[in-house]
Amino acid sequence: MPILKSINDHWQFFDSGAPELINEQSIGKLVSLPHNAVDIPLNYFDETAWQKNFCYQKIIEWKPEYLGKEIWLILDGVMADTQIYFNGQLIDSHRDGYTPFECKLPMHPDQKQNLLSVFINGTENPDIPPFGGPIDYLTYAGIYRDAWLKICDPVAIDLIKIEPQNILKDHKSVSILCQVRSFKSNSYPIFVTSEILDPDVGEQLLGIANGVCNDNEVRLEINNLTDIKLWDLDSPKLYKLKTTVQCQEFSDTIKTSFGFRSAEFKPNGFFLNGRLFKIRGLNRHQSFPYVGYAMGRIAQEQDAEHLKYDLGCNLVRTSHYPQSPWFHDHCDRIGLLVFEEIPGWQHIGGKNWKEQTLKNVDSMIKRNWNRPSNILWGVRINESADDHDFYVKTNALARKLDPTRQTGGVRCIQNSELLEDVYTMNDFVQGSEELPGTNHSRISLNYQADITGLSENVPYLVTEFNGHMFPTKRTDHEQRQLEHVIRYLDVINRANGDQNISGCIGWCFADYNTHKDFGSGDHICHHGVLDIFRTPKFASYVYSSQKNPEDEIILKPVTYWSRGERNIGGVLPLYILTNCEKVTMEFGNSIKKSAYPNTSKYPFLDYPPVIFDHTLFEPDELGKWGLYWTNVKFTGFLNDAEVISLKMVADPIATKLEIGTNWKPTNFSGIEQVRVEVKALDQVGNVLPYFDDPLTIETQPGEIIGPSSMTLKGGISAFWINISPNSESLVVSARTPRLPPVSLRIEL
Ligand code: GAL
Repeated sequence: MPILKSINDHWQFFDSGAPELINEQSIGKLVSLPHNAVDIPLNYFDETAWQKNFCYQKIIEWKPEYLGKEIWLILDGVMADTQIYFNGQLIDSHRDGYTPFECKLPMHPDQKQNLLSVFINGTENPDIPPFGGPIDYLTYAGIYRDAWLKICDPVAIDLIKIEPQNILKDHKSVSILCQVRSFKSNSYPIFVTSEILDPDVGEQLLGIANGVCNDNEVRLEINNLTDIKLWDLDSPKLYKLKTTVQCQEFSDTIKTSFGFRSAEFKPNGFFLNGRLFKIRGLNRHQSFPYVGYAMGRIAQEQDAEHLKYDLGCNLVRTSHYPQSPWFHDHCDRIGLLVFEEIPGWQHIGGKNWKEQTLKNVDSMIKRNWNRPSNILWGVRINESADDHDFYVKTNALARKLDPTRQTGGVRCIQNSELLEDVYTMNDFVQGSEELPGTNHSRISLNYQADITGLSENVPYLVTEFNGHMFPTKRTDHEQRQLEHVIRYLDVINRANGDQNISGCIGWCFADYNTHKDFGSGDHICHHGVLDIFRTPKFASYVYSSQKNPEDEIILKPVTYWSRGERNIGGVLPLYILTNCEKVTMEFGNSIKKSAYPNTSKYPFLDYPPVIFDHTLFEPDELGKWGLYWTNVKFTGFLNDAEVISLKMVADPIATKLEIGTNWKPTNFSGIEQVRVEVKALDQVGNVLPYFDDPLTIETQPGEIIGPSSMTLKGGISAFWINISPNSESLVVSARTPRLPPVSLRIEL
């Protein structure tokens, strides 16, 4: 059995790429992975700080159990240009910051201590995608994902591809491609066995196939599989394929997760397992404040959970590059569809750059082709111009590697050449009516025929909307946030109502750090429905209100509830983002109004918002500027029963701090990050949206990522704490000058 050993600990990090580090073991800064070469402040930083050389060293010790084995180094993600030296010899290099790579370490029993030096160059090298032009995100240097040693026999499995077939039939099959690498010429024949196991039923054996590998690969078929459960959004059933290769002296076994599902974009929409439904998704950047890309497994999983459970999305686009394997693993486990794409942003580079892009297509697909959550390969550079020859090649390569999935290629130009299977379009028409020279009024989305210029409908997906057309901060004025909400409602409603649109993916999940050429001058694009700390803005409730109330009942008034926040005063029209069937509003002691989901304005939303507007009130019934302001109570109903209520007070008083976490006790083996949120609340438990007092945080044990003193922003502050698996719990405390301090014990 091969051994996969994490080697995230005990790396020496050097803020230079001095040549002597190639073969001289030195003392740098002791770090563990994932690691960000240069941590940055939240905003207003020097974006060139990590555009230079760095080095990581580690001693790899020879162990007696390595005798007769091959030792491989696996790096899951290193930004951006990497060279690997082992005992002074260059053994490998890799020129993509987003895909994994592995190399064989030449180890010998007579050398006990081996020096591994990983040199990285963080500059935006125009030979490496996505670089060469402006890009609206940052690429943070470092070994920012996990590192592993694989110890296996000289004959070992190199690659497994699992293709479920006849998915919607009673009798299903699986085709398997197994490639073997052999460092022994006399090892053939190699016998290969693949078994399908059900991990939920004690690894029950469901099917088996045997074959002989006479060259370096073999194809196997397992047929007549019955009683197989499909992988679906609500029941993401995973099976395991256990493959063993065996020759006279050596053997290797690996277990690979996979699922049975069909996924197809057609001109009339997207079908999962033959069922038509609308895609409702968000784009995700994999960055986090202060540490860039360098976050561990649990933070990656929590992002997937935010998308699936809090926001109720059914798809995420990994804009604009392959993301952490932990994130993808979790999408498989929880049933979140993924549209994954190659690294790039508008710019297409020269010959080397294009060759690298083809390698990126290859590694992206081989890394994730067994994942049921991956449903579409993005094989164009995001929003690039047409380039016939180049994109013929990326498409052909994707189809050859994986004929089971369709290709897409995200574009923003009309009438762009369709070489892919799905026309994937960033549609920013909403808001464009403000542009000079535009002579149309507000449109939420274009019609596909107007975009494609084709005479017939094709599979079509909106891959971005909103974003820079209406950047909105969590702390923005209520009216701007309401407009943000309305824009999301309008687009999702429009996409839902158009059978020629498979769905829409908003820009974007969370705010992100970016280059000076984008964002608000603070190096942040405030484009998320969550802020950079993953704290929700009002627009996030557009998504969560579309969830089935059996999953969660949502009642979110888009207001801070005050007489004077909005222009001229008052709170109308008041949008309540909800999945209830009726909402009542009790204003003071005497006024009680009922309103229902606004199906005339939003006929295609699963759960239209309830809108209290002027038509429901006598003029000045809620008072006007200069008159007393009053408390309110909202109550949501389902099947005529009260199911949720919310009070908001006219005179909120800063009453208490609340501290919470979404951490769930779990097993972990390396450094992980615990997310904690502190909120300043009024006397009825609502966040105080303009409470910006200083906040001091302490944690014991653990290390706060970013500063430990900050201000609450819009009444909320969130942060992550690095913890090691040696601790069983941690206690976090928070204090402000005026509210009683709070603390939280978190069981790990
Ligand atoms: C798109 C681009 C995204 C992001 C977005 C902001 O053009 O694809 O990466 O920059 O604009 O709205």
